[in-house]
Amino acid sequence: MRRHVKNNVSWVGYMDWELETFHGDDYSVDNGSSQNAYLIEEGKTVLIDTVWTPHRKDFVENLKKEIDLNKIDFIVANHAECDHSGSLVELMKEIPNTPIYCTPLCIKSIEGQFGKQNWDVHTVKTGDSIDIGNGKKLIFVEMRMLHWPDSMATYMTGDNILFSNDAFGQHYAVAELFNDKADQAILWREAMKYFVNIIHPFAPLVTKKIAEIKSLNLPIDIIAPSHGAIWRDNPMQIVETYEKWANAYQENQVTVLYDTMWGGTEKIAHKIAEEIETQSPETVVKVFNIAKKDKNDLMTEVFKSKAIAVGSPTAINDILSTVTGFLAFMKSLKFKNKKAAAFGCYGWSGESVKILQEKLKDAGFALVEDNVKSLWNPTDEDFAKIPELVKNLLA
Ligand code: FEO
Repeated sequence: MRRHVKNNVSWVGYMDWELETFHGDDYSVDNGSSQNAYLIEEGKTVLIDTVWTPHRKDFVENLKKEIDLNKIDFIVANHAECDHSGSLVELMKEIPNTPIYCTPLCIKSIEGQFGKQNWDVHTVKTGDSIDIGNGKKLIFVEMRMLHWPDSMATYMTGDNILFSNDAFGQHYAVAELFNDKADQAILWREAMKYFVNIIHPFAPLVTKKIAEIKSLNLPIDIIAPSHGAIWRDNPMQIVETYEKWANAYQENQVTVLYDTMWGGTEKIAHKIAEEIETQSPETVVKVFNIAKKDKNDLMTEVFKSKAIAVGSPTAINDILSTVTGFLAFMKSLKFKNKKAAAFGCYGWSGESVKILQEKLKDAGFALVEDNVKSLWNPTDEDFAKIPELVKNLLA
């Protein structure tokens, strides 16, 4: 169960092959995941994080097979969310007097979730450090709102490992543990999906935090996140990629997203896609029915896009509920530097395009006023509006 990471550092986490969703059912998981916990055995023996609550008994039993639990000098809790702190209660039943190092908000959150504990908690802040023997120490770096208020990273000198917790992670079970052993296409797809759906709302903080970590001039040989592959091959590649992703990222892609009742709005979506192809063959065009695709994957496509077109028919004086939910989630992710246009069919009252436009503006998109609003089914006259709409979306 123990996996070697570097020198006296081992992975002692849980490989969650069966995981299908995360954060309840809010995040789809296609390639398994892992909750990474780490054991450091230097002059001091240190456990960094635990695993998700359902796996707490396996975690403690497995850890017992690896080490006499009483040998653990202290525990670092980088983050209170239960996928990392969820085995602490079970573990502390065995070693109730073991000190725990974490941020003040971390213990507050842990006790909020699991009840008041009488643990020997030592709160830390950025720059605090602990000697772990053999000339090495742990330095703590608060990662406030990346992605919870209590989040923290821990840096180990000597081996130059940044235990980054959620930052730089992916929901991806990598049997071989390391980024150079992972399937590169899956690794990067999952890293982006994770960034978009979990980290992106805090993108301005990512930029600041990376600048702060860089200013500490700490050599980084390994970035060991709390989910997915450990970055040992060129670990700074994920840091540099985060810098890019956090800065109003876009690719030369336009995505058309819609839902439809009787096919009219779908026809407009297809025509818009065709027109983008015609006007700009080098632009990647993708079309998705919002109701039929995974919302986290769709958000990743929006993230890559420089512009989107969103369509819904009018239904009960509103847009379809699938599109309402999609737009609400999209707003929460706080995308920047993207254009948007609206389209849709109607039979009588016809509010959908206006509602879509308002919601797209509200979600931070630069609205292209051109739109297609079709009575019943789109006509040639309606389609004739598409070239100008596309021209302005691409401009
Ligand atoms: Fe992986 Fe915020 O927990």
